[in-house]
Amino acid sequence: MSWQWKTIIEPFKIKSVEPLGFTTEEEREKVLKQAGYNLFKVPADKVLIDLLTDSGTSAMSAEQWAGIMRGDESYAGARSYFTFEKVVRDITGYKEIIPVHQGRAAERIFFPIIGGKGKCIIANSHFDTTRANAEATGALALDLPIKEALDFEKSGAFKGDMDVVALSKALQEKGPGVVSLVILTVTNNSLGGQPVSMKNIKDVSEVCKKHKIPLFLDAARFAENAYFIKLRESGYSNKTPREIAREMFSYADGCLMSAKKDALVNIGGFLAMNNTEWAKQAKEIEILGEGFPTYGGLAGRDLEAIAIGLNEILDEEYLKYRIKSVAYLGEGLRKLGVPIVEPPGGHAVYINAKKFLSNITPEKFPGQALACALYLKAGIRSSEIGSLMFGKNNNGKFVPAPMELVRLAIPRRVYTQSHIDFVVEVFGELVKKKDEIQGLKVIESSPYLRHFTAKLAPV
Ligand code: F0G
Repeated sequence: MSWQWKTIIEPFKIKSVEPLGFTTEEEREKVLKQAGYNLFKVPADKVLIDLLTDSGTSAMSAEQWAGIMRGDESYAGARSYFTFEKVVRDITGYKEIIPVHQGRAAERIFFPIIGGKGKCIIANSHFDTTRANAEATGALALDLPIKEALDFEKSGAFKGDMDVVALSKALQEKGPGVVSLVILTVTNNSLGGQPVSMKNIKDVSEVCKKHKIPLFLDAARFAENAYFIKLRESGYSNKTPREIAREMFSYADGCLMSAKKDALVNIGGFLAMNNTEWAKQAKEIEILGEGFPTYGGLAGRDLEAIAIGLNEILDEEYLKYRIKSVAYLGEGLRKLGVPIVEPPGGHAVYINAKKFLSNITPEKFPGQALACALYLKAGIRSSEIGSLMFGKNNNGKFVPAPMELVRLAIPRRVYTQSHIDFVVEVFGELVKKKDEIQGLKVIESSPYLRHFTAKLAPV
């Protein structure tokens, strides 16, 4: 071929379609009020473009649907389990592979084994459920991202990295026996969907080995991370995403995986590791709550779909389109002067609401205010990653989150370029009227993960 085309096309064609939920602004105003200004409480058929999450929202392939029909629903030792186990082992290299119904089930099973009162779990950044499950055991969940990760305007190749110097320091200060687990979230969802470099995985792994502390990957978006390594880290451009993923997993002792992201399925996950003693304990806990360890809260057909999805996600044409199409949204917003977390992440573009709505203080949840305004304007649903999610109330005193972001997460293989063009157009309108956006206050909330259930009202 003498020329290289510039347009990145969706590497699939559409066989089955779903209508979008068109509503009027009047209707949306009512819906929003009824939902207590909490977008988790908005019925999905009142949403036009749903960028709330990339989790469990993928479109499955014809091959995955065919796999669903092939699922073996035997209670124990189902054929589908062995198909699933083989694929997971081939990618991760781990000995013990335990299916679970989603990522947080892996956390809930594993953290009581490794955590507990007086223990500390360190991550580049814990995702919200990861933090909540660690803290629920009584352990301290400590985030040690690199400093650049919080400088949202500055671009960088691997802003998902962990601060290795801070890690060594924390281990020394806390002394032996306190830090019981180190987690690298690939990509780093809480801080912009930014990738972690292979060098960082290796360096963190060395520190962990020196201190005899296990390192696990929170691998929800491992394939997107692997592709970023291929694009951005020297020495990897000629490697396949599968080879890169294998190398990433090889430096860790295990992983927690929400298959709802990079396994292209609507439900599922797994816990995988080399330590047979922990795996034995995990399976005992699993039987109590999730089910027998060859199905782990899933149907046999789900295991088939995960196995197929894990192979499909590593397709280079797909990953190229995925990373480019998310960046395309980022470029559109950047051109409008909307402050985004630079560079765009692997699964989402994050807007710096603190900067965009600088007239709204963190106490008034600028991220949530922007997410609500976006819904009201055009029925686009997004999610806040800021003080509603991570802010604390310490004895009546408000402690804001370190960031006020709005995440536009892109479901895999679901929306086309014109949907994204539409989102950018809506932002063009919001930019003009941003001074009219009102802050919010919490009027009802719960102690854990309040962003899912809280009720708010305009202030
Ligand atoms: N780890 C990471 C990095 C995640 O992003 C998530 C979920 C989980 C663990 C938990 O997995 O939902 O299958 O129980 N993230 C979703 C999101 C919910 O919207 O980012 P789960």
